[in-house]
Amino acid sequence: MRKVRIGVAGVGGMGQGHCAYMGKLKRAELAAVCDNYAPIAKEVGEKFGVPHFEGHVKMLDSGLVDAVLIATPHYFHPPIAIDAFKRGIHVLSEKPIGVSVKQARRMVRAAERSGCVFSVMYQLRCSPAARAAKEIVESGRLGELMRVSMTLSYFRSQAYYDAGGWRATWRGEGGGVLLNQAPHGLDQFAWLAGMPKRLLGRTRTRFHEIEVEEEAWATMEFPNGAHGYLYATVNEAPPATHFEIVGDRGKIVFDDNTMRFWELQHPVREYIWKTRHMWGSPEAKLATPPLKASDPGHIGITQNFVNAILKGEKLIAPGAEGLWSLELANAIILSSHRKKEVKLPLKANEYEELLAELVAASKPKKRVREQRVTDWAYTKKKRKQ
Ligand SMILES: NC(=O)c1ccc[n+]([C@@H]2O[C@H](COP(=O)([O-])OP(=O)(O)OC[C@H]3O[C@@H](n4cnc5c(N)ncnc54)[C@H](O)[C@@H]3O)[C@@H](O)[C@H]2O)c1
Repeated sequence: MRKVRIGVAGVGGMGQGHCAYMGKLKRAELAAVCDNYAPIAKEVGEKFGVPHFEGHVKMLDSGLVDAVLIATPHYFHPPIAIDAFKRGIHVLSEKPIGVSVKQARRMVRAAERSGCVFSVMYQLRCSPAARAAKEIVESGRLGELMRVSMTLSYFRSQAYYDAGGWRATWRGEGGGVLLNQAPHGLDQFAWLAGMPKRLLGRTRTRFHEIEVEEEAWATMEFPNGAHGYLYATVNEAPPATHFEIVGDRGKIVFDDNTMRFWELQHPVREYIWKTRHMWGSPEAKLATPPLKASDPGHIGITQNFVNAILKGEKLIAPGAEGLWSLELANAIILSSHRKKEVKLPLKANEYEELLAELVAASKPKKRVREQRVTDWAYTKKKRKQ
């Protein structure tokens, strides 16, 4: 294969964003688009000069695509991916890879059976701060995990939720902040600290007229006894991410896009017994490595996906790792609704039952004012004004 021909499934806000940078990719091209809303498929196909299809099956059967980038609402990620894998078509799925662990595990199994490349759009893994933190964790310089805490603050208006019939409903979206805004943070949490073995979670909705959670928080315990804390909301402005990972040899602190790393001269447990001084404390040296200048974001993940297809390059965000953030989200929702502690790995059928109950009680929206504008396209336009 000389060039990977990519079809984009779902050309709303994010799908159009992906179409717009395809021309910058090396050895890949936008080959087709599809959407289940025919007028938008036509408009976007004509804008980018590629064939357009109503629904993903016609596009997958057209023989025009080697890979599909799925940017539909989350519920459709697993079925479209499975249809693609059955046809030997590689998949790059938007986050989250699905709405429930059960559906997502099916998707991962289908990928394994097909031998196709499967990646997930966790573009924050490309950020210079995240890459540096990953190197520190993998080098062992942080030591044994002691605590992880993460605050994910976003702001979403009612107009945002009214912009799509699917948004913020159990039937259409399958979750709120945990399924839409927080997955990037949850992915970083699990990617850098690993998965907890149990958690106690709460969710609530206070300010918006939506079915799903606008706030979520959890306390967690890791296999080695380390603690985890998480808080995510769509009710705070300005948006911010604070993330601390503490080991017995050091501490990493993220504040939005900045990252600092302190390295201890003596591991905590050793120093506790070693010092004779009443107020002694291990010396901590700021040892933040120089951060790479560039953040390739979405393009970085898509180019890496293309390179994995063409030359077996190691994936930055393998699709199977998309299960981590989803499992955390499902577990917090389950814990909150069933008012109990949840053990991980999650019992997928238990969550499926809860989701079925929530979907059965889900009501069509009274107010929808359709808009297909993704967050970063809006921010870019605002900066130019
Ligand atoms: N990685 C990121 O930075 C990022 C940012 C925004 C959105 N997203 C993800 O992208 C996905 C889409 O979000 P959006 O904001 O673009 O939504 P959107 O509503 O703007 O667009 C979704 C599009 O999918 C179409 N669609 C619905 N069902 C379909 C189906 N079965 N087959 C084909 N097309 C279908 C809709 O008609 C619509 O045009 C979500 O999963 C979201 O989490 C990721």
